Amino acid sequence: MSASGGAAPPDRLHDRPDERLYGRRSGHRLRARQRRLLEFTLPRLRLTPAHATAPEAAFARHPAALWLEIGFGAGEHARGFLAGHPDAALIACEVFRNGLCSLLGRLVAEGEEATGPLPGMLRLWDEDARRLLPLLPERCLDGVVLLFPDPWPKARHVRRRFVHPDNLGPLARAMMPGGEWRIASDDPVQQAWVAAVLRGDPRFSDSTPLAARPPDWPPTRYEAKALAAGRSPRYWSVRRTCAPVLD
Ligand SMILES: C[S@@+](CC[C@H](N)C(=O)[O-])C[C@H]1O[C@@H](n2cnc3c(N)ncnc32)[C@H](O)[C@@H]1O
Repeated sequence: MSASGGAAPPDRLHDRPDERLYGRRSGHRLRARQRRLLEFTLPRLRLTPAHATAPEAAFARHPAALWLEIGFGAGEHARGFLAGHPDAALIACEVFRNGLCSLLGRLVAEGEEATGPLPGMLRLWDEDARRLLPLLPERCLDGVVLLFPDPWPKARHVRRRFVHPDNLGPLARAMMPGGEWRIASDDPVQQAWVAAVLRGDPRFSDSTPLAARPPDWPPTRYEAKALAAGRSPRYWSVRRTCAPVLD
């Protein structure tokens, strides 16, 4: 991503609309504070592809557990997770600049973007999470969090849904057997889709979704919007089984 707010660099995945999982990367022109966050703070937290091959070394301390959050939005869950799990490390992925700035802006005070202390157990991946998965070592993730992924309800956009058979192999490869995959969705089409995709895959346990968020899952902005609009989120806690990765 360009720190100056210019167009994103050419991106092979995004050249094929069917493979793009998200819409706009930037909602409006960047303000000065956002520019400083992207220019000075983001590089201090960024997980590089080189780090990704040995991610545990990227953190301030050796983590007791390594988790991955895909599409952190404004970062409420990421901050809550770190506060609740001081010995765990989190790689948090987001492609939307406003989301990145929302999280970064809550981590450092204004004027301290280049120098203010930052969480030692958080690293950010500011590209498509699907690019990260094949770089990670096998069986390195104790948990994965996917909260309110973009629903892509139209049939012609099915391949853009993150919970898709194409993505399950790379995810299964990077997860420990017994590791937990947390998924939430408020969209009825996506809810039925998640249930159907998981039911057919031996690499993940089939779980009945819950109607209420488990108390140890930090809430997010998107969930609050869904509840305020009268929608009914569902929450899955899925386990990686011992079944071989296959692909
Ligand atoms: C509907 S929002 C939900 C945000 C947040 N999880 C919440 O619950 O408030 C989905 C987010 O996922 C991000 N996203 C979608 N596909 C992604 C991908 N492949 N890699 C990283 N982020 C992605 C989008 O930019 C968007 O911010």
